[in-house]
Parts: sequence; structure tokens; C-alpha cells
Amino acid sequence: MEEKFVIHGGRPLKGEVSVGGAKNAAVAILPATLLAADIFTIENVPHIDDVVILLNILNRLGAKIRFLDRTTVVIDTRAVNHGNVRINLAKRLRASYYFVGALLGRFKDTGVYLPGGCDIGSRPIDLHLKGLHALGAEVDTDYGVFHAKAEKLTGCEIYFDQVSVGATINIMLSAVLAEGSTTLINAAKEPHVVDVANFLNQMGARIRGVGTDTIRIHGVQNLHGCNYSIIPDQIEAGTLMIAAAATKGDVLIKNIVPMHMDALTAKMVEMGAEIQEFDDSIRVRNSSRLKAANIKTYPYPGFPTDLQQPATVLLSTAKGASVIVENIFEARFKHIEEIRRMGAHVTVDDRIAVVQGVERLTGAQVKASDLRAGAALIIAGLMAEGTTEIYNIKYVDRGYDHIEDKLISLGADISRVPVEEEPFELDLDFQ
Ligand code: UD1
Repeated sequence: MEEKFVIHGGRPLKGEVSVGGAKNAAVAILPATLLAADIFTIENVPHIDDVVILLNILNRLGAKIRFLDRTTVVIDTRAVNHGNVRINLAKRLRASYYFVGALLGRFKDTGVYLPGGCDIGSRPIDLHLKGLHALGAEVDTDYGVFHAKAEKLTGCEIYFDQVSVGATINIMLSAVLAEGSTTLINAAKEPHVVDVANFLNQMGARIRGVGTDTIRIHGVQNLHGCNYSIIPDQIEAGTLMIAAAATKGDVLIKNIVPMHMDALTAKMVEMGAEIQEFDDSIRVRNSSRLKAANIKTYPYPGFPTDLQQPATVLLSTAKGASVIVENIFEARFKHIEEIRRMGAHVTVDDRIAVVQGVERLTGAQVKASDLRAGAALIIAGLMAEGTTEIYNIKYVDRGYDHIEDKLISLGADISRVPVEEEPFELDLDFQ
């Protein structure tokens, strides 16, 4: 049944909260288990819808899945013997393209229904196709299937003309079992790219240079199972940091890698929030109206596009005018129409949003258009005076593990309630 969030805003968030495992690492690490026929124990797996879908796909391919606790999963891939993922579930998320990289690496032949995911722009996969082709695969996307096949994969040099998280990871997945060495130039440096490489190295891969823009992969013949713990989610951490400041709260966010948050931390300090960094936690405090600031999204270590939407909401009540430039995804301003309904003054021209800070937001009925838009609207609801109802929260569940529980533990008044169908009051007869 469809659900919505109902938020009574205006309460400062206070207390301590722990961040879960990184969604964008998990959604690559789970398909990566297919690179070996063995047993894996993966800890700190976020309990989110995208992960549930991926585990279902793995299960449909023949893998055995067993949860040891809510966030620890044992995956046994020994019975998987083919690379055919023409499974409808695969259309439901972007990350299903990682099955291509992993299964091409393992079986040298794979077909996966073309990925779906949030509608935040055109999201082409040309870099994935070019990279896999350079390794020696025949690739095509005919009939809605991302298909890749190779006699053998041979290491090579691949230059990405645009930094892409998905393409960097996907090519790594195939190249770890290629013959010879592969060099990825202008590779993505995001923390979850590094985490996936660390996982692959635990499986016996030889990847060097992750976290820089040149990654070198020495192909090996076989990989094996391992135990691994996924890094904390940079974006959930950022969402909570923004929510703390937006509600004039005082929150200690634990299980976090402070360095991953540098771009956001610097911006929030510029706005006037108080931020203290510890070894694996960050305390965010704010008691006054924040100042306007300009933001441009860039690949890591720049300001993450995934936090642009929540940050826009934070700036909506800051003092002065802020300019936000979205450099990564051209359609990532869909939350703005919704926060306008809550009183925000924002104009958008192509990839640029100008936010004129208002004194306050007011509660309204709004709709999430994608995952991070949903997170942004939750923050708007927490800040706003009155009641906010957020529809389409299925997007939020794709990437946050019951975020409302964490917010409630910090003092928020937020509840998840079923959406009742509007009753038909008039039975029109058009005969
Ligand atoms: C991943 C994340 C997403 C995040 C994004 C940027 C996952 C499942 N999703 O998405 O949450 O917002 O990184 O940090 O990890 N591009 C091309 N051709 C390609 C691939 C990408 O032109 O073949 C372009 C995209 O349109 C975009 C830019 O490159 O403008 C970056 O995209 P990319 O880093 O690939 O994003 P995703 O992997 O889709």
C-alpha cells in the first residue's frame, strides 16, 4: 500500500544518531559477489529497497542469501552458472548495470534489462559501453537489453571523457578478471568507488590507485569469497547534518568518515553552522539564521550532486541570495517546485537555481520526484511551520533505511501513514 510521511515541523533535532552502510557501495558490492563462486559475509549492508531488489535478483540467478542480522548478509554464489539477467526486477534500479560488469568478467556473456533509477536527467551509459568494448567485448543495447559478450577480456588503457561513478566501477568489475593490465584515466574518486575496489581486492583482485584519477588493475585468473564491512553512507550522513542545522538543532552523527564530508562541512561552516569533527563522528549545531552561500556540484571531492537537493532546502531560509549550479544531472531541480509550495523563493534557469532566502517555510502537501528530492522534502517539512505531507515516499525507501526512525529518535514529529484513496463521490454516467 502506498504510504506518505506526515511531519509536524519546527522541532529542533537533538541527540545522537548512527549512519548506515553506503547505498552506492552496496549496490555495486552485491553484484560483484558474482565474480567468484564462493561464500561472502557482508556487514553494514543498508536495509533499503534497492538492496532488497538486488538480493532478489542474486537469488533468482541461483545465489543463496541468508541474513545473520538486520545488516549482515551471507551470499553463497557457488550455484550461479550463467549471466542472463533478463529479469524485470533489473529495470527497477540504476545499479543493475553492475551485473553486466560482474557477469561479463565471470562468464564472458551477459544480458541485463536496461537499468531504471531516479529520473534526474538523461543518464546515458555510453561510457560503460565504450569501456567494456575497449576490453574486448561486443556490446549493444538492442531490444532494451544491455548485452555484452567476449571471447576473452584483455587489459587496456581507457580514458573517460567525463568522470562517471557507474562507468568507473563497472569497468573495474570486468577488468579484474581480464588478461593483463587495465588503466582507467579520469576515473571517479568517490568514497564508494574506493570501497568497491577495496572489496574486490579482498576477493583477490589487484587494483591500485583508487581514490586518485588513475586506477591500475592487474587482471587475475580467479577471485574468492571474503568478509567485508561496507563504509558509512556519505549521503545519509550529509542529509542528517543538513537536517540538524536546518532545524536549529544539536546532533552528534556517528559512524561517519569526516573526510568524506569535507565539501559539505566547508559549505555549512561558511553558512554559519557550528561543526566539530571527531574520529568517526561529526557534531552539528546551529542556533541562528544561516547565511546564504553558493554551491556548484562536482565529482568527489567536490560538492556531491546527491546533497544538492537537501542543501537547496537549507538555503531556502538563509539570509540573502544563494546561487546553486548543478553540473552533474540536468534535471535535478524537481524538488524546487515542491518547496515553492512551502513558501521558498527559488527561480531555476537550466542548471542554475537562485534561492532568495525567506524567513520561514510553511507546511504543505508535496510530492517526492526522486530519492534525494524526497530527502530534501523531509528536511523542508522538519523546518516548516505546520504540517507537511510528503507523497511518493517509495523513492526515499530506495536509499534510506527507515529514515523516520532515526529522525524520531532525535525528537522529530514524523510518521509514516498509509495513503487513503480519495473516495469517488460522484458516479458520472456518460451514456
Ligand atoms: C552514481 C550514483 C548517484 C550519484 C552519481 C554522481 C549509483 C547507483 N548512483 O550515479 O547516486 O548521483 O553517481 O555521484 O551509484 N555519464 C555519461 N555517460 C555514461 C555515464 C555517465 O555521460 O556512460 C554522465 C551522466 O549523465 C552524469 C555524469 O556522467 O552527467 C556522472 O554520472 P555517473 O557518475 O555515472 O552517475 P551514476 O553512476 O549514474
